[in-house]
Amino acid sequence: MTVPERGELLRAPLFHTPRNPFLQDRALESHGDGGLLIRDGRIAACGDFEAIRGAHPDATTKDLRGGFLLPGLIDTHIHFPQLRVLGGLGRTLLDWLEECALPEEARMADQSYARDIAREFVHALASHGTTTALVFGAHFAAATAALFEAGESCGLRIVAGMVLSDRQLRSELHQTPEAAYRESSNLIRCFHGRGRLLYAVTPRFALSTSEAMLEVCQTLQREHEGLRFQTHLNENPREIAEVIRLFPWAPDYLAVYERFGLGGRGAVMAHNVHTTASELERLAVAGTAIAHCPCSNAALGSGLFALRPHVNAGVRIALGTDVGGGTGFGMLKEALQAYLLQRVAPDGAMLDAAQMLYLATRAGAEALGLEHEIGDFQVGKAADVVYLKPPEGTPLAAVLERTETPEQTLAAIFTLAGAESIREVRVEGTIVYK
Ligand code: GUN
Ligand code: ZN
Repeated sequence: MTVPERGELLRAPLFHTPRNPFLQDRALESHGDGGLLIRDGRIAACGDFEAIRGAHPDATTKDLRGGFLLPGLIDTHIHFPQLRVLGGLGRTLLDWLEECALPEEARMADQSYARDIAREFVHALASHGTTTALVFGAHFAAATAALFEAGESCGLRIVAGMVLSDRQLRSELHQTPEAAYRESSNLIRCFHGRGRLLYAVTPRFALSTSEAMLEVCQTLQREHEGLRFQTHLNENPREIAEVIRLFPWAPDYLAVYERFGLGGRGAVMAHNVHTTASELERLAVAGTAIAHCPCSNAALGSGLFALRPHVNAGVRIALGTDVGGGTGFGMLKEALQAYLLQRVAPDGAMLDAAQMLYLATRAGAEALGLEHEIGDFQVGKAADVVYLKPPEGTPLAAVLERTETPEQTLAAIFTLAGAESIREVRVEGTIVYK
């Protein structure tokens, strides 16, 4: 007979967004003296500490006052083989790919190198408070397997796939559609649904995939239940012009993917900076999510994201760091950058702290079709939790002495908290980083 677990009661101010603050008022829930009861890896209660302790006197209290609890951060767009090309400033997308990203991605043919990067990569995710990530794997099956294995041993939720391309890149990164089908099928059988891992069919972008390769993607999606999908869309004007030249029958970029049935719930397309009203309408109807990557959009000079038109059209949006076109692994920084770019965008939205938290957590869960499991602290969900505490003597510690409302506290965290403030990270109640 198993003894029921009495549970662990974390005591600290806590914040989460169980509702969408772009659609509903008062979507932010916070508790200044918060309690989060974790039992068997799930959220058993969330609310005021004293009330929860009264109802669950057997639980073991862990006093974390001085810091804050947030739901695990969810990164919906990031490239595993690009960790070591972070910082390649001064280029736009196509030059950056050729000069910075693709030479490093070719190195993933070396399995032992790929294993080293995979370990560094999952550690970087966890140490920045990211508990779930939708990841572009490598163009090589063994390196992609190394990513899944590293994610599994770290305990993170990794949704990833082998990157598929058969033209326009360097030849070492191309597969034939037949090899792409065979190797993707093997990876799906091995990793999809294993523990916390899920598989995402991953054509790099329309520019580097023939119609035959996009057909392979469609076949894989049809043959396996519950696969996710990821690619790039409308990032850069030169890229878009090339896509339209290569697919002359397509009225716009999105139509290329639509022709092969690629999109819908559980599909995430990165960027969509240069979009059209028609594409927004079709994305909303299909339920395809856009991963907004504001650090990357600024670093690569891709442009200003039309956040308000996406929201008004009803398109799902979440956030991605886009390592290595972006500027690092921090999802709090990414949310701040979204705020900053909206401040300078013509007709930009004024994001508030609740919207920033939602974009960095629950929105990602919704984009991935995992909102029943993660994204906030509702009872029954997995206990994916970030504990943040600014080091003494830092500006954030000083500012937090002064803040008076939950919104002010959260805004200060987004503005000033970096990896040095991430103290403990849990997935399903288990500590994956401390
Ligand atoms: N489009 C195709 N590949 C990439 C990539 O690696 N990074 C970004 N930002 N855009 C892409
Ligand atoms: Zn990308």
